Parts: sequence; C-alpha cells; structure tokens
Amino acid sequence: MSPLSAQVYLDTHRTVGAISPLLFGGFAEHMGRCIYEGIYDPASPHADEDGLRTDVMAALRELGYTVIRYPGGNFLSGYNWLDGVGPKEQRPRRRELAWFSIETNQFGTDEFMTFCRKVGAAPMLGVNLGTGTIDSAAALVEYCNAPTGTYYADLRAANGRAEPHNVKYWCLGNEMDGPWQIGHLDMHEYASKAREAAKLMRWHDPTIETVLCGSSNDRMATFPEWDRVALETCWEHVNYLSIHMYVSNHHDQDTPSYLALARRFEDFVDTMAATLRYVKAKNRSQHDVYLSWDEWQVWHPGETSGRWTEAPHLAEVGYNLEDALVVAQWLNVFLRKCDVVKVACMAQIVNIISWLHTTREGLLKHTSYYPFMLVSNHARGNSLDVLVKAPRYETKQFGAMPLLDVAASHDPETGKQSVFIVNRSQTESVATELVWQDAAPARVTAIHQIAGTDVKAENTFEQPERIVPAQLAGGPIVDHRYTLVLPPLSFTTVAAA
Ligand code: AHR
Repeated sequence: MSPLSAQVYLDTHRTVGAISPLLFGGFAEHMGRCIYEGIYDPASPHADEDGLRTDVMAALRELGYTVIRYPGGNFLSGYNWLDGVGPKEQRPRRRELAWFSIETNQFGTDEFMTFCRKVGAAPMLGVNLGTGTIDSAAALVEYCNAPTGTYYADLRAANGRAEPHNVKYWCLGNEMDGPWQIGHLDMHEYASKAREAAKLMRWHDPTIETVLCGSSNDRMATFPEWDRVALETCWEHVNYLSIHMYVSNHHDQDTPSYLALARRFEDFVDTMAATLRYVKAKNRSQHDVYLSWDEWQVWHPGETSGRWTEAPHLAEVGYNLEDALVVAQWLNVFLRKCDVVKVACMAQIVNIISWLHTTREGLLKHTSYYPFMLVSNHARGNSLDVLVKAPRYETKQFGAMPLLDVAASHDPETGKQSVFIVNRSQTESVATELVWQDAAPARVTAIHQIAGTDVKAENTFEQPERIVPAQLAGGPIVDHRYTLVLPPLSFTTVAAA
C-alpha cells in the first residue's frame, strides 16, 4: 500500500518573527530531588568542587538551556531568600509548606548563580509575593544587582560575591491565582502588590525585565479575567505575562486527542495574545508585553508530599514515546507563536517532572529529552509561517486534525533552515514533500528522527536507548523539492543549507 501524502510549503519571506533564544529555558525548584541530588549533590562521584553534578550540567548544556527560572514554583511563595545565603553551617533547616519537605538551605541564590554560569544559562529569579513583602523583593534585587556600598550589596560581598550577579529576568511571584498557593491573593490584591513590587525592584535596577503572574492554566475559573485585571494594573511595569500548563494522557488514555494537544496550546496562546492586545489598546500604551510560558511539561500523577523529609522522591515518573511527541509539538507551537511567546521554561530540569533522572552514580535521559535537544539546537533566526497540506484524522477532543504538526526556521545569517515535523498517525506513514516557494537550499544536510511503534515505550536505566534519535542521510534538493517518508508516531528534524 502506498503511503499517504502531504506537502509542506516554505518561503523564507513568509515569517512569523524572530525566534527568541529564551524559548529554550528550564525551571529548577526546591522540590523533591531537583536541587538536592539533582543539580547539587556533594556526595555524588560526579560532583565538582562546588558540589554540582557535572554529568547533569553536561546534559543541560547539551539541551542548550538559555535561561533557568528559580527557586520556584509553589516553594517560592513561602521562601525567605535570606535563609539561603551566607555561611552554610548557619543556614536554617525549615519545614516548607509547598511540598511538606525539609529544606536545608544548603543551596541558595549564590550557588544558583554559580550553577547558571557553569551551564551557560541566564538566571531568572522569582520574588516571594505570597508570604514575602515588596520590601524583601526589592532587597533581593539590591543583593543581586547593586554595586557594593549599601547593606544588601555589601552582604553579597561579605558572602564572597563582590561583583553583582546582574540578574535580568524577575518573576513577580508564582501562580498567585491558585488557591493552593501559599499566600494566594485575589486578582485585585495581587495586581496591586505586583505593581508595587515591580516599581521598587525597577527603582533599584531599571534594566531588569519583570514577569507578571498570569493564569496557572487555561482551566482556572478566573482565566482570562485574572490576566486582564493584572495586566491593566501593571502594564507599564512589566515585560512578560507568565502562563503555565501541564498535561497528561494518564486518565483519558485517548492517544489520538493527546497527540493533537498542539491545538489546546495554540488556543491558550491566542487567548492570551488577544488579552495583551486588548489591554495595550485600553491602556492607550506604546509599551509591549509578551508571554513567558515559564512552566510547561507532561506531568503524570505521582507523589507530591515530602512527608517532612529532605529531598524526597516526588513526581518522578517515566516519559514515553507519545509524551515525546507532545513535547515536540509544544516546541513547534512556541516557534509558530514566537511573535508573542518570548520566554519558555520546561518544568523541571532534573528529577521532578523531568526528562533527566539521577541516581547517585547514574543519569537517565527520558524520551522527551531528545525533541527538546533537537529543536533547541536547530531552531535559529526566523520562524517561518509554514503552509501544510496533510490528511486529517478524527479526535474526540478537537475534531478533525491534520496528521502532521509542522514548524520551520530560517537563519538569514547562515542560510540554514530547519523543518520540524510530527507525524501524529499511529498507523500510517506520510510521504511528505517539502516545497520551497522562494530560493531553495542546495541540500538536506541532516535528518534526525525519533520514532517507534509503541506509544508507551519508555527509556529506563536497564534500557536507556529504546527511544533515541536516529540520524538519516540527506540529499540534494531538486527543483525546490525534497520528499521524505515519515513513519507513524515520529518526530523528524530536517536541516537544509
Ligand atoms: O512545577 C511544579 C509545580 O507546578 C510548581 O511549583 C507550581 O508553580 C506548579 O503548580
């Protein structure tokens, strides 16, 4: 039987916009074993002189993280950052109420800066707007960014960091719309507190960029009214609106719909983009605010209570092939919506809800590690507005959806192009013709493909390479066209130059 066929039309003049490097960010929270036993583990044979896991950092560099958000998450809303600086033996052990865990504070702001420098990522810090005050938020900006000569900057110097950390990105709290949040506020209370915090923080350092808490997900009862109110109050004081989302196929076991989740991701962005446009017009502003999708991930049910232990095993679950294909589509959505989504942070970078999993000696890369690695390493320059003609299939949640999910990039400086394609079909190969409508590259230089026949296939410590990318041969592009057969349940990255 001959395979189904599809066409992908590319034109380097038809762009969505420039791809923000900050789309390839991560998130690290004091939750479970993300910090302790994840990135910081002095007892591991892989630890360096700072107690940081060299094998984990090598993987994070391979993923190309450009920015890392820290220290939470729900943890942030009960955190006193002063607990985490200064001599380690004097730092308090605390019961922390987000995850009912014991926090030793052996890792804090200064250690995080060292970690970011070694990984090559920019730090994005959150300020506590739950139990924290606007004063403590402003003090943290002084601690991180002010030259020495005043109290908090001198405290930094006394802690061995004479030079400012120069943190550019700052989150104004975390998920403050959620009743689960420590110190949850209603939308008007949050908006006022965030505005005043941002004012003080920017008076300390006018070069910082601030992120306002938007809706924790698209199912919140207050969505999108929360966003409108917060934006109207804070518009001129902020640069980004934060959105979050976690998904899973665990309860529904509806793979056709699960593999079409890009539709839901795009709808969320479109609603938020419309809200941004509305508020900009209503406030008669020349200023722009963009989206920071600073928590996104597949999250299957797992333990979330630490039961008052240190570094408990929380939310450590495996990821399978269908999860990897959802992650690939999420990244495609970031590219297709890069005119409004400027920051994105995968939650989280190790152990918690993560595609990296440590034991004291070992490191496992789950399936969805690989689509992130491929897209973050290949997507450069402009995102192209791709026209796709593909057969459709039926889903319960979204109706008829195209079998292919596609994004593409073109770097005007190097001439390199990349096309990212998910074949959502569980059974059908799709012969896909790439058609360049303007000047075509000479060759397909590399093809990387993740594929399998079992949607539930996972990598494990015993079988770590069940789902890894294969490298396929490229070839010349003839008459502006190149055809490749995409197997069912696959993600393919095509590089051309
Ligand atoms: O990433 C895990 C948690 O999910 C974060 O702490 C919170 O912001 C979200 O609800």
